[in-house]
Amino acid sequence: MTTDRQGPGDSLDPHLARRLLEQARAARAHAYAPYSDFPVGAALLSRDGRIFTGVNVENASYGLSTCAERAAVVSAVAAGTRGFTAIAVVGPEDGRACPPCGACRQILHEADPEMLVITEGTSGPVITPLRALLPSAFERSDVRRRSVQP
Ligand code: THU
Repeated sequence: MTTDRQGPGDSLDPHLARRLLEQARAARAHAYAPYSDFPVGAALLSRDGRIFTGVNVENASYGLSTCAERAAVVSAVAAGTRGFTAIAVVGPEDGRACPPCGACRQILHEADPEMLVITEGTSGPVITPLRALLPSAFERSDVRRRSVQP
């Protein structure tokens, strides 16, 4: 874990975005992906400036495999951290972007719907608001309505 402060918002310092991508690439070296041969690394930046990494961890019982983004969120929450500015995600070293899967978009939304998602573009980091990747998300307020008395 390292430290780098950046407030929430719709823009991110490009230098910081590149740094997060580098950390995601470094983490990817530890991915456990013997079944898909598709290693993924993620670097999650908290609002208080800490960076948590995650990798995908697969299993012979395929459905038990976990994604890199989810591993990063779990690691951050386990450390007592809430509120996130951005997450960088990298897939295999083939020059193509690795967008978060649908399940991870939902997990990231719960962690912080305002976060930015950074992927690798041909000429540098591509920064996309999570809200654009998961519009009309199912969220906490949708569950809570059950407790409201008619
Ligand atoms: N994977 C991730 O780690 N994150 C994603 O958002 C997309 C998919 C992993 C899951 C599996 O281990 C491998 O990539 C192939 O799907």
